[in-house]
Amino acid sequence: MRIENTFGIEAEARALITYNTEQALREALYIIRARYDGLPVLHIGCGSNLLFLSDYPGVVLKSEIKGIRIKDETIDEVLVEAGAGEICDDFIAQAIRRGWYGMENLSLIPGQIGAAAVQNIGAYGVEVRDVIEEVQGISLTDGKGRRWACDECGYDYRRSIFKEELWGKYAITRVIFRLSKHFLPKLHYGGLAHAVTQAGLSESTLTAEQLRQIIIDIRRAKLPDPKVQGNAGSFFKNPVVSEEKAERLLREYPDMPHYPASEGVKLAAGWLIEQAGWKGRSLGPAAVHDRQALILVNKGGATGRDIQKLCEAIKKDVAQKFGIELEPEVNII
Ligand code: EPU
Repeated sequence: MRIENTFGIEAEARALITYNTEQALREALYIIRARYDGLPVLHIGCGSNLLFLSDYPGVVLKSEIKGIRIKDETIDEVLVEAGAGEICDDFIAQAIRRGWYGMENLSLIPGQIGAAAVQNIGAYGVEVRDVIEEVQGISLTDGKGRRWACDECGYDYRRSIFKEELWGKYAITRVIFRLSKHFLPKLHYGGLAHAVTQAGLSESTLTAEQLRQIIIDIRRAKLPDPKVQGNAGSFFKNPVVSEEKAERLLREYPDMPHYPASEGVKLAAGWLIEQAGWKGRSLGPAAVHDRQALILVNKGGATGRDIQKLCEAIKKDVAQKFGIELEPEVNII
């Protein structure tokens, strides 16, 4: 059974099981134990952040749990529960239509709600943890349900306990979001305030729909469409370095983009890769995107190993030039 992935890599699993309720997931777990006992289990979303290096020797699970419902609300806020199988961007569009705000900047990020909570997706100065109230899941070992309050999820930049110590142990089933009924545009991320003015709009009258459209336009201009060219968005994380290291680099490269981070200074991996001469370059059927060097693309017919070779070549050159170890953001399976 072919495994869906936006890199467009051919990879097969022994079995692929989708489920649309918690009960159906528990039944699927029984089936896996009965028929495929001992084989590994991989839970995927839409496959938009995965790189398969080979066929998967086990069972792939995918959530189709849908449903969006209000759990509670005040005049200022709403608590909304969304099924992990909902498409994240459809949820954002619906939230904006219904007057629930806070996720506009995450518009057009591919993937499902469950994966968004695992990855702590982020863009344009907002991370999904900013609006997550609670995450619900089911243990893949014993089928027991569990809930995590946002501060128990270990969220950090592109990190969560679901990506680390709980990786492979739980399926996220539903996520509860705390959204605001008052639209407060977040434009502090470099370039966003400028994009608003360029679109002939002003911050004071900007609507959430307009901000969503601006974000969509920026993303479409920079990021390759996986339907046209296989990719998984940013391939690497933006590295965080010590202040001393950042200062040293800034003396040599005064134009280097840099942002304050919780444990040092965050640099732009795309910039580092471009400076290392990789932007737009190919290695066999794998290439670095020509408008955003943080994105690796499948030019057609690439295997996971081809993409990995390119990843290693880039890492080596960036390490040599800047003394920085890039770390993949994509989950390599
Ligand atoms: N830059 C370059 N050359 C490049 C790419 C970027 O010089 O080829 C420079 C830009 O000029 C800018 C800086 O690097 O000064 C940052 O670039 P950009 O704003 O495009 O964002 P990013 O840091 O490369 C991150 C996220 C994206 C997210 C954008 C916008 C990560 C790993 N990536 O990219 O997320 O859309 O910010 O917020 O944090 C994803 O995770 O798949 C993803 C696309």
